[in-house]
Amino acid sequence: MIMCGIVGFTGNKKSAPILLEGLSKLEYRGYDSAGIAVLNDGTIKTQKTAGRIKSLMDNTNGGETINGSVGIGHTRWATHGAPTTENAHPHLSGNKKFAVVHNGIIENYSLLKENLINDGFEFLSETDTEVIPHLLEKYYDGDIKTTVIRVTNMLKGSYALGIICADYPHMIIAAKKFSPLIIGVSSDCNIIASDATAIVNTTKDIIYLEDGEIAFIQPDNIEIIDENQKKIQKEITTISWNVAAAEKDGFEHFMMKEIFEQPKSVANALNGRIKNKKVVFENFKLSKEELQRINMIKIVACGSAYHAGMVGKYILEDMTRIPCEVDLASEFRYRNPIVNDKTLTIVISQSGETADTLAALKKAKSSGSHILAIVNVVGSSIAKLSDDVIYTYAGPEIAVATTKGYSTQLAALYLFSAWCAQNLGTISANDLEYFLNSVKSLPQKIKETIDCCGNIKKISKICIDSSSLFFMGRNLDYAVALEASLKLKEISYIHSEAYAAGELKHGTISLIEKGKIVIALSCYSDLSEKMSGNIKEVVARGANIISCTNEKSPVISNQYITIPDIDSRLIASLEIIPFQLFAYYVAYYKGLDIDKPRNLAKSVTVE
Ligand code: G6P
Repeated sequence: MIMCGIVGFTGNKKSAPILLEGLSKLEYRGYDSAGIAVLNDGTIKTQKTAGRIKSLMDNTNGGETINGSVGIGHTRWATHGAPTTENAHPHLSGNKKFAVVHNGIIENYSLLKENLINDGFEFLSETDTEVIPHLLEKYYDGDIKTTVIRVTNMLKGSYALGIICADYPHMIIAAKKFSPLIIGVSSDCNIIASDATAIVNTTKDIIYLEDGEIAFIQPDNIEIIDENQKKIQKEITTISWNVAAAEKDGFEHFMMKEIFEQPKSVANALNGRIKNKKVVFENFKLSKEELQRINMIKIVACGSAYHAGMVGKYILEDMTRIPCEVDLASEFRYRNPIVNDKTLTIVISQSGETADTLAALKKAKSSGSHILAIVNVVGSSIAKLSDDVIYTYAGPEIAVATTKGYSTQLAALYLFSAWCAQNLGTISANDLEYFLNSVKSLPQKIKETIDCCGNIKKISKICIDSSSLFFMGRNLDYAVALEASLKLKEISYIHSEAYAAGELKHGTISLIEKGKIVIALSCYSDLSEKMSGNIKEVVARGANIISCTNEKSPVISNQYITIPDIDSRLIASLEIIPFQLFAYYVAYYKGLDIDKPRNLAKSVTVE
């Protein structure tokens, strides 16, 4: 997975202590298991744990009990297969000649695995990665270079690889495609790592590998070939920043880093799931026939995941014509919901461990409902108990206030809605193609949205002294308003409420007085005239309007936030971005602890 950590070392001293120290520097990326492989006297030895690096340290006296000056290490954040010792990297070939660590996703691993099994190779893990050491063994012709080139050419998807081979006692091999990998260059050793944090204590001289490049690294020599297998000379860059900055990739807070990661995270969530103008979920148990029997969809979740579910309801009902209800898990679990074998229950959870969501899942399951989980953390309790899982592949989320977690949940819901519609015949081929092309454009559009949020800082400053403000919207704008309001509350501690704009005059409008800030979300162009009416009503009572619109849905306003145009079914994915930034900057200007807001926890595992 994208956030796994890799280190590798070759030099004239014991490698294990350096590998373990490097891995501990990568802990911030989030991981659930770890391991190292060290080559000594022609034998590769591995040490793995389904827990913390500390346990590897404790078992090996900080690496001192392991001899060998060449090795690779890995922190794993599970994607294919649960976080167990067997699934932890490094993975070995059957003949134990090769050890491999991998960051990324091998998309064609099922086919490669099937062929290898037919050839008699035995797999010890559920990972996509394990195909690589077996392929290296299968195609090894005594020449490590030709073998690595041949094998990497067979891999589809993304990878950063660290490889050692028992026949090459001083060499580590690094290969990169769509996942980061760098080489730290020093006079008596060389190191590879997925980011500079693991390297800066040894050297600040770095070679950045590019996609398609492979490096054969020895203590006194680095040979790099490009994607055409031509030897190349690479520039060495001396970095100046410190370790703490590297952990956040130069951002001051994890939340901001994660906001900026969203184009990539959403791309990961979509990766490999749209093929030939259709949505494909591999290994889905829910069949077309079962789907056709479903007469009710229940979405159950907490917090932002519940708000993602609100977006899901609008899209699912629109695209499938199946009635869809969204429930707070804490309410669902303690009432008497109507759930049976014709109900599809969708549970949404970033962590996969939220106590109320888990309890709601069990309740729905015991009533005979098919359970589909939309989850980020692989192998989590919710994922394990569900019939089907759509992993969101957002990577570890560190900031308590979710951003990329929510965005990837939306991506999963779009895909699932389209999958249902294509199987139920409730969408035309043309519309499906248009919708999926728009979905595919999301990573780029999210990037454009981040880029065009230049005035958010100014708007945030206007709001920092407010004691309370209102968000309003209709349809998908309303669903986004709920999440925008929660984001603000969570980290800025400013009270805010989100209202369905049509509901305003049934009470809330009594709170509008001169100068009150009302944030009007009006990107859903079909209803922009209605929104204009609601805006006029609050303006007439003195409200100060900040609007969020796109070019198709202009409204009058004191301040404007504008987002790019997109298929109206997908506006939530763009519209939330300025409000994540808004919450961030309000909290920032108030000097608050953005990544760890008071009283809140990332994963709420108690009721
Ligand atoms: C906590 C987090 C929220 C999250 C909610 C549900 O309150 O702070 O960001 O939306 O839990 O968590 P889940 O892991 O189930 O998505």
